[in-house]
Amino acid sequence: MNIILLGPPGAGKGTQAHRLVAERGMVQLSTGDMLRAARTSGTEMGKQVAAVMDRGDLVTDEIVIGLIAEQLDSDAANNGFIFDGFPRTLGQADALGELLESKGQTLHAVVEMKVNDDALVSRITGRYTCGDCGAVYHDETRKPTVEGICDTCGGSEFKRRADDNEESLRTRLMNYYRDTSPLIGYYYAKGQLKRIDGLGEIDEVAARVSNALDA
Ligand code: AP5
Repeated sequence: MNIILLGPPGAGKGTQAHRLVAERGMVQLSTGDMLRAARTSGTEMGKQVAAVMDRGDLVTDEIVIGLIAEQLDSDAANNGFIFDGFPRTLGQADALGELLESKGQTLHAVVEMKVNDDALVSRITGRYTCGDCGAVYHDETRKPTVEGICDTCGGSEFKRRADDNEESLRTRLMNYYRDTSPLIGYYYAKGQLKRIDGLGEIDEVAARVSNALDA
C-alpha cells in the first residue's frame, strides 16, 4: 500500500508516518528530512536550499522530484511507501503518478489530516526531535518517557528546526494554502482522498489513520 500523508505544517504527518513504519513496516519518504540531511552533509544542493527552507518557502519541483525518484530506485518497500511532505504542488503530484506508473506501482490512498491554524502554531513552536534517529517530540504533548532520553533509540541529543518559528510558519502556511491545498481536489477527483480529523491525542489520530487505510 503506497500512501500520501497530506496536511499543513504541524498536522502530524511525520508523527503518524513513524507510527506506520513501526506498526506496518512501511517505508517513510519525507522530502523535508531528505533536504535537511543534504544541508547537514553540506552538499551543493543542500547549500542551495538552506535559505529557502529557513524562510519557509518551497524548494523547486525539480529538486524534490529528483530526490523522490532516487529513493524509489534504491529503496525496496514490500509493505509500501509513505510519502510525507510530498507532493506539495500539482506538478509534483503529476510526477509522482508517472514515477509510480513507470515502476508498475499505484497510489492507494491520500490521507488528509485536518488541524486548525491555532493548534498548528503551538505544535510547531513546541517541537523538537532526536538528533540521532529523528523521533519527534513536543514540549507539552509528547515528552520522552525518561527526560532527556529518546524513547526510540536511547539518544540524548535533541534539536529544534531553524524554520520552527512563527515568521517562517506564516510563510509555510501561506504556501500550503496556495500551492498544496489544490491537491485535495486533485486526489478527491481521482477517488483516492480520505479525510481525517488531526486534532486529539496522538493515539486517537493514529487510530483514525488506520481506520481510513483499512476501510
Ligand atoms: P517538512 O519537513 O515537510 O515540513 P512541513 O510539511 O512543514 O511539516 P512538518 O514537518 O513541520 O510537520 P508534520 O506534519 O510532519 O508534523 P509533526 O508530526 O512533526 O518541510 C520543511 C521544508 O522543506 C518546507 O518548508 C520546504 O522548504 C521544504 N520542502 C519539503 N518538502 C518539499 C516539497 N515536496 N516541495 C518543496 N519544498 C519542500 O508534528 C508537529 C509537532 O506536533 C510535534 O512536536 C509533534 O510531537 C506534535 N504532534 C503531532 N501530532 C500531535 C497530536 N495529535 N496532538 C498534539 N501534538 C501533536
